[in-house]
Amino acid sequence: MRKSFLVGEREMKQKQSWFLRIPVLCAAVVGAILGASLFHALRSFWVFYDPNTFFLGGSIGIFVLSLAAIALLITLLALRVYVPRWKGKEAQLPKAMRVCAVVGFVLAALILVAVVVILCFSGEEAFSVFSLYLKKDLPPVLIFTGAAALFLLMPLLSGKKKAVFAGVMVLCIVFSCVQTVFPLQPYRFVSAPVVMDTGEEYAVVFATSQQGTGYIHYTFEGKEYTVYAQEHGRRIGDRMIHSVRVPHAHLKNNEYQIGSTRVIEQFGYGSRLGKDIQSETYTLRVKEDKTQKLLVVSDWHTRVKQAKQAITYLEDYDAVVMLGDSAGSMDFEEQAVRYIVQFGGDITHGAMPVYYVRGNHETRGAFAAHMPEYLGYDSCYYRAQRGEYSFLILDSGEDKEDAHIEYGGMDEYAHQRSQMLDWLNEQQTKQGEKFIVFSHDWKVSEPEPEVSRAAWDKLQSLGARFMVSGHYHVCEFLEKTNETAAPYLTAYPDIATYIDGGVKKNVVTVSKLTLTEQGVRFEAADNLGQKVMDTTLPWGK
Ligand SMILES: [Fe+2]
Repeated sequence: MRKSFLVGEREMKQKQSWFLRIPVLCAAVVGAILGASLFHALRSFWVFYDPNTFFLGGSIGIFVLSLAAIALLITLLALRVYVPRWKGKEAQLPKAMRVCAVVGFVLAALILVAVVVILCFSGEEAFSVFSLYLKKDLPPVLIFTGAAALFLLMPLLSGKKKAVFAGVMVLCIVFSCVQTVFPLQPYRFVSAPVVMDTGEEYAVVFATSQQGTGYIHYTFEGKEYTVYAQEHGRRIGDRMIHSVRVPHAHLKNNEYQIGSTRVIEQFGYGSRLGKDIQSETYTLRVKEDKTQKLLVVSDWHTRVKQAKQAITYLEDYDAVVMLGDSAGSMDFEEQAVRYIVQFGGDITHGAMPVYYVRGNHETRGAFAAHMPEYLGYDSCYYRAQRGEYSFLILDSGEDKEDAHIEYGGMDEYAHQRSQMLDWLNEQQTKQGEKFIVFSHDWKVSEPEPEVSRAAWDKLQSLGARFMVSGHYHVCEFLEKTNETAAPYLTAYPDIATYIDGGVKKNVVTVSKLTLTEQGVRFEAADNLGQKVMDTTLPWGK
C-alpha cells in the first residue's frame, strides 16, 4: 500500500516538473511574445471596434492579458534560472509556480488562438495592413526579445555555446547600430510617375523606397526647369511619396524626368543626404480630341493584380479616373504607395493625366488626413477640363455619420461636405457644356440626405448629364427598382448614374468611357475577360 502511494507521488512529481522545465518555459515565452506581437498588429481588424460584433475596448483588454502572460512566464523562467534552490531538473517547486505556469500557458495559448481566428476571418486586404503594423512593431519586439534572451539564457550556457551565443548577440547589436547610422537598403524608384490633374495644375507623383526629396526636370520654351516638391520654400524630404506641381502648359505633351535624393537625416544646421537617382524620360500625352477614352477604376481594395488584368481587356485609353477605395484604410504612407502610386504608375507609365476621386475607405486611418496632399491635391473636390468635356469631381467622404464608432472620434466629414456644397453652389457651366460628375458614392452625402438633395439640385441646374460613381461594387446604371435611387431618378431624370464596378468575390471589374460629340459609350470588363457592360447614351436625353 505504502509502495504504490510512493510510486504515485513520484509520478505526480514528474508531471509537475514537466510544466516548469526550462526548455518548455523558453518555448512558452517565445510563443507568448509571438502571440502578443501578432495580436498587437492584428487588432486594427474592424471587429474590435464594432459593438455589435465584439465588446468595446476588447482589443486592448486582450493585449494586456497577452503582456501579463509574457510577464508571468518570464518571471517563472527567471526564478528557475537565478534562484539556486529552484534550479535543476530535480528541484522541488512550490505549487504556486505550477499554478502560475498553467495560467501563463493558457493565456498565451488563448492569444495564439485569437490570432489564428482573426487571420481566418481576414482577407487579402486586411493582411496588407497587418503586415505594415507588424513591420512598425518589429524593432521594439526584437529589442525586448534580445534583451530577454540575454538575461535568461546566458546563465544557462557555458563554454563554446556561451561564446557563440554572445557572439551572435554582439553581431546583431553591431548590425543594428550600423543600420541606424548608415541605412543599408538600396535607394530606388518604386513606381513610375503618375500625373495627377488637380484641375489647376499637374502634380507629378512618384514613390521611392525610402524617404527623400523629389523633383522633376523638363524643358519648356527653350528653358530648362528643375522643380522640387517643396512647401513654403523648404524641400520636402521626409516622404516616400513625392508630388511635384507644375503648370499645365509646362508639361502638356512634353518630356520630363523624375529625380530624388535620399534624405538620411535633417538638422537645424545641415543635413545628411544619400544617393541621387534620376529616371528615364517620360512623355505626357494630353489628348483634347473630340473622341476621348477614359479608363475608370474604383473599389479595387488592394487587388491591383486583378485590376490590371481587367484593364487589359479594355484596350487603349487616354486618361484614367481613379474613383476611390484603393485599400480598406490609409493607416500608412506605404498603403498609398502600393495601391495608388505604384498602381497608377503601372497603368499610365506617366504618359497620361489621372483624375483622383477620394473613396470612403481612403478617409480612414492616421495617414488619411495627409494623403490628398501627398498626391498633390489641395482639395478633393475640383473641376477639370479635357478639351470640350468638363469634369466635376466630388468628395463624398465617409458613408456613415462622423460619430460612428468605426471612425474612433476622428471624423469631420459633415463639415467637409458642407464646405463642398458651398463650393458646388458657386459653380457655373456654359450652355450645352458636356459635363460629367465623378463621385465615389453617387449619393454625394450619404449621412446627410438634405446635403445630397441640395447637391443633386445643383448638379441638375448645372446641366450634368452623367454621374459616374463606384462604392457599391457592382457594374450597372441605377434603375428605379433600386429603392434608394428611385426618388433621385424621378427628381433628376436628366442625370444618368453609372456605377463602374470594383471587386466582388476577388473578381475586379473596371470601366472605360468613350466620350464623343454624340454621347458616351460605357464599357466594362472583369479580370476573367468577361465584358459586363457595353451601352451608349447620348449627351441630351
Ligand atoms: Fe466605397
